[in-house]
Amino acid sequence: MQLIDGKKLSQKVQESVSIEVEELKVEKNIVPGLAVLLIGDDPASHAYVKMKAKACEKVGFYSITHNMPDTISQDEIIATIEMMNSNPRIDGILVQLPLPKHIDTEKILEVINPEKDVDGFHAYNVGRLVTGLEGFVACTPLGVMKMFKEYNIDLEGKDVCVVGASNIVGKPMASLLLNANATVTVTHIFTKDLKSHTSKADIIVVGVGVPKLIKEDMVKEGAIVIDIGINRIEDGSLVGDVDFENVSSKCSFITPVPGGVGPMTIAMLLSNTLKAAKGRK
Ligand code: GUN
Repeated sequence: MQLIDGKKLSQKVQESVSIEVEELKVEKNIVPGLAVLLIGDDPASHAYVKMKAKACEKVGFYSITHNMPDTISQDEIIATIEMMNSNPRIDGILVQLPLPKHIDTEKILEVINPEKDVDGFHAYNVGRLVTGLEGFVACTPLGVMKMFKEYNIDLEGKDVCVVGASNIVGKPMASLLLNANATVTVTHIFTKDLKSHTSKADIIVVGVGVPKLIKEDMVKEGAIVIDIGINRIEDGSLVGDVDFENVSSKCSFITPVPGGVGPMTIAMLLSNTLKAAKGRK
């Protein structure tokens, strides 16, 4: 069994982003800029945004966070996004999800200029991904693809089971895998027999937010297991969606939690923002 070290790989990505930022400054006088919209007071969202801002600072980006109360109207959020769309110092716009219930998330995401959509959530970029065209891709699944590449994991013809069908993780993950010529099964909350799918898979990618959902008897010997889940359990510790203790010995590769996919999300956000800055018009 080999551990896939997301922390180490994310540092490697961040170092290469830093170098490119320096070159972009010297050659084109461009400092990549990221605007983050944070609405409401969800503690997890605040923690994520803080980490994102810190990572931006570390690689030499310009970044601003717009903190808004959850009583804010949809029109006010839209007006802020439009301001960021026309701000020449801003290359990437990120609206931290989830949004308060009275806000129509899809409507908000559609306001972001697709060229500044570094989260890859705009329907334009989602459509390009599904079609196999170049565009911005959601950071977490993109980070998983980076891990496959770094560890020379070939996807062509592999049976991959994606557990979870969210817009942020499962759906873009399935599209990326399909584009890489894998045979992809997507399971979700209405799937009748999860085990019948996971136990046949060469690779399992799970991101549902259910602690230790994937048990030993659901995984084939020698399988590759990618755990996107991050859950805090009663004793205060962080666990993934995989029962790591009992599953890991069966795997050829597995990601730990924490230190697996988590750090890759921020690394790919930096990478996407750099890409947007390079395309600055
Ligand atoms: N909420 C959970 N994950 C993400 C993410 O990758 N981007 C944004 N904007 N919100 C999230």
